[in-house]
Amino acid sequence: IRSVVLGCGSYLPEQVVTNAQLAARIDTSDEWIVQRTGIRERHIATEGEFTSHLAIKAAQAALSDAGVDAQSIELIVLATSTPDNTFPATAVSVQHGLGINHGVAFDLQAVCSGFVFALATADNFLRTGAYKRALVIGAETFSRILDWNDRGTCVLFGDGAGAVVLEAQEQPGNPATDRGIVTTHLRSDGRHKAKLFVDGGPSSTQTVGHLRMEGREVFKHAVGMITDVIVDAFQATGLNADGIDWFVPHQANKRIIDASAHKLHIAPEKVVLTVDRHGNTSAASIPLALSVARKDGRIKRGDMVLLEAMGGGFTWGSALVRW
Ligand code: ACO
Repeated sequence: IRSVVLGCGSYLPEQVVTNAQLAARIDTSDEWIVQRTGIRERHIATEGEFTSHLAIKAAQAALSDAGVDAQSIELIVLATSTPDNTFPATAVSVQHGLGINHGVAFDLQAVCSGFVFALATADNFLRTGAYKRALVIGAETFSRILDWNDRGTCVLFGDGAGAVVLEAQEQPGNPATDRGIVTTHLRSDGRHKAKLFVDGGPSSTQTVGHLRMEGREVFKHAVGMITDVIVDAFQATGLNADGIDWFVPHQANKRIIDASAHKLHIAPEKVVLTVDRHGNTSAASIPLALSVARKDGRIKRGDMVLLEAMGGGFTWGSALVRW
């Protein structure tokens, strides 16, 4: 049994904030941001627009792309670090918003690696036969946890949501053509937790807090961790860069993506890049990028797609999916 992707979808808040608009408010420039990160603009949710609202729209788009009814969904795993409330899980608001009142919905928190962790979690439930169809969602409103006076972080992030519909399907057993999630590899190491964190929380400060990051430290570890966990995927499957049709990395920073692809010998034309228009949307970035590459016709049925993410914790992970 494999977890096959039936469809994907995404949603971005309408409001776009360009680098020039940020430069009018804080001491930064379009040139600095583009050169260091590749980011040109990001979408920012308006007041009253919550993570669950973005997630519901992304889920509806994914269901419609998959051509399946919301009522057939038995499992919802929602990755977010910016939930509507401390509890209940944002996933139950999404479940309710989709009109579903059976099955199970829960949140999962692995910061920027959240979508890969959620995909691996849903995949394991589907392959055991526990559920038949799942929605895996990454949804964030990072604009709400940014310190808008800290130019070293506020220019990097954006808001958005993306989702995929998975279905447990028997495959013929041919590794060269079998569709679905081939392998997932997840890692974490809490020694790095102070390098990228939010300085608030219900148990510690009773505040929401703001994102704090040692950018250089994150950068220093990112490429090595990303490539390690992709090598794990290659070793588990016997695949290499030549067997990959599309590389859809977490969109944090163009320099990290370029360096990772280069180290893995993945050709630049196979790399899906959306960080220029979306910024870093944390757990939402991969399903947002998948949606873009599906809609513009790049990712086709049967293509081998390599996903990868790294983020706060640190957490990092990879997934190989035959579309
Ligand atoms: N505009 C202008 N100048 C700035 C800005 C800004 N927005 N931000 C920082 N600077 C200045 C700093 O104040 C510093 O000035 P100084 O030399 O006078 O002190 C100078 O630029 C260099 O600062 P650094 O932080 O050392 O800049 P660096 O080259 O490391 O670039 C960046 C910063 C882009 C954050 C980089 O470290 C990076 O990409 N890190 C990875 C972090 C990341 O992507 N995190 C995402 C979350 S984790 C994940 O998703 C993988």
